[in-house]
Amino acid sequence: MAHQNELMEKIVALCKRRGFIYQNSDIYGGFAGSWDYGPMGVLLANNIKALWWKMFVTDREDMYGLDSSIISHPRSWKASGHVDGFNDPLVEDLKTHKRYRADHILEQNDINPEGMSIEQMTLSIRENNITSPDGNELGDVKAFNMMFKTYVGALESEDSIAYLRPETAGGIFLNYKNIRDTMNPKLPFGIAQIGKAFRNEIAPRDFIFRVRELEQMEVEYFIHPSSWQENFALWQQASWDFIREVGIAKDAVYEHEIGEADRAHYSQKTIDFEFDFPFGRKELFGIAYRGDFDLSNQSRESGVTLDYTNLETKEKIIPHVIEPSMGLGRIMLALFSSVYTEDTMNDETRVYLKFPPRIAPLKIAVFPLLKNKPELVAKAREVYAVLKKKFGNVIFDDGGNIGKRYRKQDEIGTPFAITVDFESLEDDAVTVRFRDTGEQTRMPIADLLSYFEAHLS
Ligand code: GAP
Repeated sequence: MAHQNELMEKIVALCKRRGFIYQNSDIYGGFAGSWDYGPMGVLLANNIKALWWKMFVTDREDMYGLDSSIISHPRSWKASGHVDGFNDPLVEDLKTHKRYRADHILEQNDINPEGMSIEQMTLSIRENNITSPDGNELGDVKAFNMMFKTYVGALESEDSIAYLRPETAGGIFLNYKNIRDTMNPKLPFGIAQIGKAFRNEIAPRDFIFRVRELEQMEVEYFIHPSSWQENFALWQQASWDFIREVGIAKDAVYEHEIGEADRAHYSQKTIDFEFDFPFGRKELFGIAYRGDFDLSNQSRESGVTLDYTNLETKEKIIPHVIEPSMGLGRIMLALFSSVYTEDTMNDETRVYLKFPPRIAPLKIAVFPLLKNKPELVAKAREVYAVLKKKFGNVIFDDGGNIGKRYRKQDEIGTPFAITVDFESLEDDAVTVRFRDTGEQTRMPIADLLSYFEAHLS
């Protein structure tokens, strides 16, 4: 495990060094559970979201996009079961009053908390004489609601309490009727949304793995109840396809069916896709069969019927739902763990990120061999301008020696680097260097556009 923790430290350091991920409020010593994506992180996140949207929405005929509000009617969160049931088990150190996730405390003491109720966790803590990490007595385990509460409007009272959404799914169920009535979809169909969700995690940890402000990529797929098994299987397959395309190591991903006692309150079947993170095998994302839980409860609470009529058979049903739900941050972290590579080049350890070209934040870096030779810089800028116009995320760099520039781009994961040298002024050709092998080849400038068009998709 030691070398795995070392890997985590290396990933965190690289993410900061190369502008992927910064600790939020670091000038104040950081703010637990909040991380900020820097320039490279934004590009990477956008590429992952674009791939997800393409595979789960654009490439299909049965999907509708949505961007709903983060704050919605508080009664909708009562109906969804989140006000009463979106809880984590909390336990307090009776001396220091530090608070912990009770299931984490049990795990740290080699007890598997799967399937345990809150009462059983308390019992297990007592029977096994488990103390807090500071060695003090622990209190009883309590249910802690993870929704962030706020007040809307000018009055801070019970009546103005609202919640930051804990899952983007909520906005999808609230818009089911709008989309049904305006887009006239045929069952089965899905509504997709990418957006922020907020959870007051008791113990945010492991970098961007468990955060309080997260981004989710979710589909609610509405189906006839009789077809839930086959649709569940189709979304399982679609999820594996996404894992492959995004560049996550497939052999580090495992399906794990969640037992009844541990499933979310709305789910009748859940399969978690787990990943071998450097800190252990943990949930990457999940697929849940939510049945008609949400539409029925929202319907009951709002008094508005949320059904579907088959115009051919006239059958009227409350559709059931299959939900593939992914956290963007966890996808990113699994990706970093998958693509982080070290090898030896010129007798030195080299680090590079082996992103698939379509996911890499930068596609091509263009360098003049020397900074202080205006004719080289001018030629390199010409090449850069053409590629930048065509491929967008192309960078020009003339700082430091060429070896340092290559290493920097390797660490960012830029698949191609182009160097304009003195020969280029004579033969209108450049050196193209490949990230993964470090090999270099000479290529006519006139061929660059078509070459990269073929190799960057
Ligand atoms: N709508 C279903 C839902 O929200 P979930 O299992 O609670 O289900 C879905 O969350 C996914 O969101 C998780 O599999 C994970 O990828 C991500 N996620 C959940 N909580 C998270 C947190 N605190 N930090 C980072 N990602 C989180």
